[in-house]
Amino acid sequence: MLKVSTCLLFMLLCCAAQAQNIKVRQSGLVGNSIVVFIPEGFDASKTPSLMLQREPAIKGKLPANWKIVPAFSKGAATVPLDGDISLYGGGEVTGPLLRNGQTIKLWNTDNGAYGTDSGKRLYQTHPWVIGVRKNGTAFGILFESQWKSTLTTNSDKVSFNTEGGTPFRVFVIDRSSPQEVVKGLAELTGTMEMPPRWALGYQQCRFSYLSDQRVREIADTFRLRQIPCDVIWMDIDYMDGFRVFTFNKAAFPNPKQLNADLHAKNFRSVFMIDPGVKADPSYEVYKSGSAQDVWVKDTAGNEYHGKVWPGDCAFPDFTIPRTRQWWAGLYRNFMANDIDGIWNDMNEPAVMDGNLGTMPFNTPHRGGGGLPAGPHLLYHNAYGRLMVQATREGVMAANPDKRPFILTRANLLGGQRFAATWTGDNLAATPFMKVSVPMSITLGLSGQPFSGPDIGGFLENTSGELWADWIGFGNLLPFARGHACAGTNNKEPWQFGPEIEKTSRIALERRYRLLPYLYTLFYRAHQTGLPIMEPVFFNDPADSRLRAEEQAFLLGDDLLVIPSFAQNPALPKGVWEQLQLIDGDSQDPHQARLLLKGGSILPVGKKIQYTNDNSLEELTLFICLDSTGKASGDLYWDAGEGWAFKKGGYSDLHFQAKEEKGVTKISLMSRKGQYEIDKDVHSVKAVVLKNGQRYEGVIQLKGGEIKTAN
Ligand code: GLC
Repeated sequence: MLKVSTCLLFMLLCCAAQAQNIKVRQSGLVGNSIVVFIPEGFDASKTPSLMLQREPAIKGKLPANWKIVPAFSKGAATVPLDGDISLYGGGEVTGPLLRNGQTIKLWNTDNGAYGTDSGKRLYQTHPWVIGVRKNGTAFGILFESQWKSTLTTNSDKVSFNTEGGTPFRVFVIDRSSPQEVVKGLAELTGTMEMPPRWALGYQQCRFSYLSDQRVREIADTFRLRQIPCDVIWMDIDYMDGFRVFTFNKAAFPNPKQLNADLHAKNFRSVFMIDPGVKADPSYEVYKSGSAQDVWVKDTAGNEYHGKVWPGDCAFPDFTIPRTRQWWAGLYRNFMANDIDGIWNDMNEPAVMDGNLGTMPFNTPHRGGGGLPAGPHLLYHNAYGRLMVQATREGVMAANPDKRPFILTRANLLGGQRFAATWTGDNLAATPFMKVSVPMSITLGLSGQPFSGPDIGGFLENTSGELWADWIGFGNLLPFARGHACAGTNNKEPWQFGPEIEKTSRIALERRYRLLPYLYTLFYRAHQTGLPIMEPVFFNDPADSRLRAEEQAFLLGDDLLVIPSFAQNPALPKGVWEQLQLIDGDSQDPHQARLLLKGGSILPVGKKIQYTNDNSLEELTLFICLDSTGKASGDLYWDAGEGWAFKKGGYSDLHFQAKEEKGVTKISLMSRKGQYEIDKDVHSVKAVVLKNGQRYEGVIQLKGGEIKTAN
């Protein structure tokens, strides 16, 4: 007994000693209220920085009263916390929005139905935590290490333990609000590039549409049934035996013609590309990769092989610059088929016959160009991020005048610079529908604004009720795509009978009417890093009632979305008016309730079937006055494609409204940019929502007046 307790005591002492055993070598300000802590022994050549957009420079001393300070130990850091703090972040996570008392593993994992490790490790790595204090001020902690690790967010301390052992830097942002903290994260890790406008439309996917004929049929049915849609997705079966960058000659004989036909009907196409390359000596991609020596090799120096869809595969070692260049080059001929977007999947990388679902931990990666050589344990969590960097470069080089749209399953903090994301293989069941809300909010709080789940649920059959409830709010997520696994029922919006088809149509018409607002939010996210889908507590970070709300959410600052499944959601105080966008939408029990915030002006467009149509032809400004009778709002618009917006080819309008003596005066207060928005806007209507009443009238783009009293 004595022996055991002495032993225990010794271990505890050792742990305590270890917990304090690494000093801070240097600390200082690297930005506005952003501090870096660099531990003794930190060596950038051993802990590569793949999260930050650029290497930060220390510009000033650590402020004297700085509160959030990490303590370093071997391969780990702990940040003690004081007071009543609500914790958020961690990127792609299951479980609650409020992260106090949670532990996640950072080891990108192909995790169908989030079943492995009870969903405590998913497809992406975001070693990032936000803390919101009682008074609404907030801080963020970025642990800059991509080694396999564990992140624990307890109320009294946040701990990050890696299995790599190499010392890493910690960045802390301490600012006046959680919004400012998220902006600070973007200052470190960058923002999403502006996507093409079509990527904001509804997207339809299935694993898989098995022939180009089926793809045409799906596209035609959307148009025939007048259900808005922009994109049809090609999952793995378009390939020849799942060989990436090839086409199945029987089922997809002429992809260029297929794309031409889709384009003629205002659809876009997204094609899947996985990292695993079939180890087939007669296959061009494998041959050229072998010739350029791009493959991951095992510890004995032999080509590493693992099983994915096509059978035995070789894997590009994306840590090698030459490999990324080679990979980027493959998109040249591929995109020449007039493909619009790319879907990178299985890029954790998922290896079906591998330990923990991937390649052995000690598999060496060769690095180069500033990246050190290192084992898979170091590079696993960056594999998807390096892959989508190369993909983006390739797509950009193939179509330099177009904005790339790339979707990835695996990624790393900061990876929003390269690709949008979705939350992987969920299950067609109510808990998965519900958790899709906090999952996408958390991604937004972790730097990735462009995300959403497989609407309806991917695995297993989806019932009409579930589909209807899911599309009823899923239509309002930044990324809105329906998807279905092989062997499950058909899940296109018309497959569940006429009633639910009607619900789907209304849901998607709502999204398309909101396009001007949504596009404005995407631009803000691109500029600032702010999320598009926000937690309700963003409305008032000091209101403790809102801290755990994860059923309702905000789209931007102005639109509150309450999904039909929400029970007693905690709603923000102040003036909020119910918003009707489509005839019958508020009577449909599956649609989310929409509330417009007092003080806001919401730009809404015409009901259209695809984003190529002119949304602004009929512009409506929905106005909800605050308690002082005022409101304001913005509309950002540009060509929706290409880069002219970077050189002034945009239009950024700021509107204000004020009610006096029963008349609301609306004025265009400022306009920036040279895009000729006037040619798009054919009519403008103002709708003032006040005490449950609606007052409307025709105005000009420059403003006008409408009577707002009876
Ligand atoms: C993975 C993806 C899924 C896709 C399937 C086949 O499971 O997550 O979306 O349909 O692979 O490519």
